Amino acid sequence: MIERATQDVVTPIPTSDGAGVLLRRSIATRTLDHLDPFFLFDHFGSEDAGDYIAGFPMHPHRGIETITYMLDGSVAHKDSLGNSGVIGTGDVQWMTAGSGILHEEMPRVGQRRLDGFQIWVNLPARLKMTRPRYQDVAAAAIPEVTRPDGARVRVVAGAVDGVEGAVKEIFAGPTYLDVALPAGGAFEQPVPRGHTALLYVFQGEVRVGGPGPGQGAAIGSPRLVVLTDGDVVRVHAGATPARFLLLSAQPLREPAVRYGPFVMNTRAEIEEALLDLRRGTFIRR
Ligand code: FE2
Repeated sequence: MIERATQDVVTPIPTSDGAGVLLRRSIATRTLDHLDPFFLFDHFGSEDAGDYIAGFPMHPHRGIETITYMLDGSVAHKDSLGNSGVIGTGDVQWMTAGSGILHEEMPRVGQRRLDGFQIWVNLPARLKMTRPRYQDVAAAAIPEVTRPDGARVRVVAGAVDGVEGAVKEIFAGPTYLDVALPAGGAFEQPVPRGHTALLYVFQGEVRVGGPGPGQGAAIGSPRLVVLTDGDVVRVHAGATPARFLLLSAQPLREPAVRYGPFVMNTRAEIEEALLDLRRGTFIRR
């Protein structure tokens, strides 16, 4: 049984995307292009509507899955499949863009702050052009596991203590957990060997591994922590409550070419996507 440790600690980079949404980006930056199969990790959050109200007007995606998880506030969405709705506090939207989707994602001004995450998971070559689909999961349908020691875990995908996550049948076999620890609390979770795994600490501070000599240095928030390979991860909170995401997924180990909202295997496939957009043949089904 090998324990996963800290391989790298990434400080999110403030950036702006869409029509001018300020966010913190940890994957898809100059320092960290991707962490196979994760091709983007964005944390958006602000109390100032001016930082996000411009939103993400109609734009395409192909070759990836985009996963939006809201901690607070809401985002209205609309797409070329005819879906529309609102992703609210605690909800998740797991969208498989596959062969192509056009959608808009517009944060709504609420009474409170806007806070959430979007990640992109790459699709393998054989599923790049799969039929687009949505899994929209309301907050109440996401199982929550409370352990005797006080750890609270929302299971978006994967399984904790035998409780299966809300999002299923995703190629990469992902784990997506939202873990809240009390001050001094601890969390242990098996993660399949060989899967890429990371933590995103967004409240308090944590130490990875241990306890004992194997325990890593304190990591504050917000930070993305790349984990070494192994079978299990142990995380300890510091003197204040801590909250983090634990993500893992099977790496694809395939050639990947990124261009804006597309991730394909070859440059020719990117050019085909751009040509499809110009010709109006982007939406295949
Ligand atoms: Fe999008």
